[in-house]
Amino acid sequence: MRYRRLGRWGLKVSEVTLGTWLTHGGAADGDTATTCTRRAYELGVNMFDTANIYPRGNEGAAERVLGAALSVFRRETYVVGTKVYAFMGDGPLERGLSRKHIMAQIDHSLRRLGMDHVDLYQCHRYDVETPLDETARTMNDLVVQGKILYWGVSQWSEEQLEQAVALCQANGWAPPVSNQPRYSALWRECEPRVLPACERLGMGVLAYSPLDHGVLTGKYQPGSSAPAGSRAATASHARLFDQFFDDDLLGAVQRFRELAEQAGYTAAQLALAWCLRQPTVSSVVVGASSLPQLEENAAAGVLDVEPELVDAATKILDPVRVT
Ligand SMILES: NC(=O)c1ccc[n+]([C@@H]2O[C@H](COP(=O)([O-])OP(=O)(O)OC[C@H]3O[C@@H](n4cnc5c(N)ncnc54)[C@H](OP(=O)(O)O)[C@@H]3O)[C@@H](O)[C@H]2O)c1
Repeated sequence: MRYRRLGRWGLKVSEVTLGTWLTHGGAADGDTATTCTRRAYELGVNMFDTANIYPRGNEGAAERVLGAALSVFRRETYVVGTKVYAFMGDGPLERGLSRKHIMAQIDHSLRRLGMDHVDLYQCHRYDVETPLDETARTMNDLVVQGKILYWGVSQWSEEQLEQAVALCQANGWAPPVSNQPRYSALWRECEPRVLPACERLGMGVLAYSPLDHGVLTGKYQPGSSAPAGSRAATASHARLFDQFFDDDLLGAVQRFRELAEQAGYTAAQLALAWCLRQPTVSSVVVGASSLPQLEENAAAGVLDVEPELVDAATKILDPVRVT
């Protein structure tokens, strides 16, 4: 496994991060999620991503499963990122980035994870109803208390990133060290402005859904129904695929898959290598609902995919990209 610094910071994370969104406490049964987590660690994955809200409907279960799976390893050898912001109840205090909500949620997350600190505490979205200085000061206080080591954000705009870093610098507070945008060869929204801002600010980039929920593995064929057991075949998740289930797009993904296989890789591996071609990307945050998927994806952190192949992949997918 290769490792990259999280932006300008000293924290070195594996190029492949294991995510837990719909798998841990959700689509993957407890044994599978535990086996995948421990195998990932054995393969050199040292970064694990979760959130208080995962998976929706069984909130907190992902943190519980992840924490138990990792408890057999030495705490100083892996990095756990979790998140706060999403609604955890119906009341006005049970969502967002207020000091009140963050202080309550960090304790719940620590208890579920069975840990005394979170390595990377991420603001899941920007909260327009809370002043940025309230959130940033609270995060700094958590760093000082030792409950978190670093804080980061997810899906923040370049203006929001710049304001947060400037505010922390002006006040001597610990600044956010990372952003977690959605990023893949079909979802390039963050490329023109957010990625350059992260680079300028020295922030790490954790690219989430790099396989577009599995679309970039090539398992969804034009004109065919989704394979049984896949995420798209799960009624509650089908809407995630609305923008991808188009014959031109799925046909291009089949050509992308052929390109990968001719070179000796799988489509998933080429899709992950495509994101990692950007030095600004610290790690790809990828999900796996079975051990073979996990092993296939983790291998992306050891393969040396030629830049020409990545360019050829871009030529195939660029005309059908969603953003
Ligand atoms: N910050 C945020 O707002 C945010 C949002 C979403 C996700 N995330 C993070 O990013 C992580 C990954 O997101 P994601 O699960 O949407 O994205 P993904 O990695 O693009 O998709 C993962 C899914 O694709 C399928 N898959 C993965 N590898 C495969 C392989 N080698 N062969 C065939 N199918 C494969 C599996 O689904 P099936 O087997 O069920 O088809 C798997 O659960 C999450 O777990 C979470 O930690 C963050």
